[in-house]
Amino acid sequence: MSHTFSLSRVARLVGVSRSTLQRMIKAGEISTHDGEVEMDELLRVFPDVKWENDGEYARVEEIKKKAFAKRVFERALPDREVLADRLFDLSSEFAAAKSLLMHYDQLFDWTLRKLDDVAETGGADTAQAVSALKTWLRGQIQAAPKEAERGVILLAEESAMRIVSAQVKVQPSGHEFFVEGTDTILEAALRAGIPLNYGCSNGNCGECRARLVSGEIKKVHPHDFVLKESEKANGTFLMCSNTAVTDVVIEASVAGATDIQPQKIATKVKSVELIDAHIAALHLITPRSQRLRFLAGQRVHLIADGAAGDYYIASCPCEDRHIELHIRRDNRPFARKVFEDLRREDPVTIEGPQGAFVINMTSRRPVIFAAWDDGFAPIRSLVQHAMSLEMAESMHLYWVSEALSHYQDNLCRSWTDALDNFTYVPLGVDGGAQNVAERILSAHHDLTHTDMYAAGPAAFLHHLRDGAMARGLSPLGWHGEVVV
Ligand code: FES
Repeated sequence: MSHTFSLSRVARLVGVSRSTLQRMIKAGEISTHDGEVEMDELLRVFPDVKWENDGEYARVEEIKKKAFAKRVFERALPDREVLADRLFDLSSEFAAAKSLLMHYDQLFDWTLRKLDDVAETGGADTAQAVSALKTWLRGQIQAAPKEAERGVILLAEESAMRIVSAQVKVQPSGHEFFVEGTDTILEAALRAGIPLNYGCSNGNCGECRARLVSGEIKKVHPHDFVLKESEKANGTFLMCSNTAVTDVVIEASVAGATDIQPQKIATKVKSVELIDAHIAALHLITPRSQRLRFLAGQRVHLIADGAAGDYYIASCPCEDRHIELHIRRDNRPFARKVFEDLRREDPVTIEGPQGAFVINMTSRRPVIFAAWDDGFAPIRSLVQHAMSLEMAESMHLYWVSEALSHYQDNLCRSWTDALDNFTYVPLGVDGGAQNVAERILSAHHDLTHTDMYAAGPAAFLHHLRDGAMARGLSPLGWHGEVVV
């Protein structure tokens, strides 16, 4: 039986994104069975990958080197009990494989002896044929297959990966992510940008209930919420209390914009970054035990010392306790507060989130993002969320600058450098909203299988939407948010 790898593991092993692999599968360049890639196929498609220099193997080497740096060690490895369980599982697998190998070895010796018996009882021709057969068999055993050495390294790297991280597959959404370090399944999902449903995140509300379909989990945090006996019997568990010991499949629901309850969180200013004279990036940090639950593309109500205002979150929900907002210098009270005297450690209350300008997580189609001035804030959050989910076949970002500069131009260029499926085009406003919309669309003749997310003034959205629909964009593929 051939060894197989999940797409997520292949992505990590060969250092390409899942969306690239999906493109290759669609193009027939790599074949899969039940969503898994066989080892021979992997070695065939990626003959040039030097496993020992990339991915998890190198990462484990790095961890070993830095073992004295306690924090790195703690972040990368699971807690001792989970580590022991994973090592035990791997040892059992190794023992089973070794015992099977010993059995085959004995079978080979027994076959040779049987052949000797046949040679003794047969004539000269039989003895000659048996001798030739034995020589051939020994030759086959000794001649290591061409790919054997690379296969050994590949398996070693995969084993290292399974000790460091366990993979979670979510049904029915199909999302996949890895649980690393001491993370619970919920923490790992949120870090990967997958908004699994949850409430308190500390074992009280029961909102994060999921069902274990296969694999092994372990409780790493106690919880007060009491599961019914019938729930326990069918494998229900709390994602905020458990981690994955082995690769697991779970049934869990993914939250949409309407599933997220309003929250009120007392944050602190981490920094006010004056990007230029007209725009500031406000970085907030939530309390250690409380993160803001939101989806990329949503906005919040901010209050600082009596000054209030609504702003889009520019950071990804995957960024844990850090929240970034882009504040334009204008006469709104909150903007005045930020540019005049808001300082590090000052309290800022967040209320929200609001809005339904969020990503369609079931779509795998190419995506076009279009932002006008600081409409870039929600678009940035959506782009980063889409990147963390590795969901889109390709992504194109257009950023139109009118009153503001392309104030995070370098960040957008770094995305282009880092991803082979990402393009970025900064645009001026010459000719007005209609002209800009036409310039964006001129590069996309057929939008039948595309999603479009745009944030900016109503006139811009109007022209972009009409032009996109004329090129085949489905009404379900259009997502527009008026940002003024
Ligand atoms: S999120 Fe409340 S119990 Fe897990």
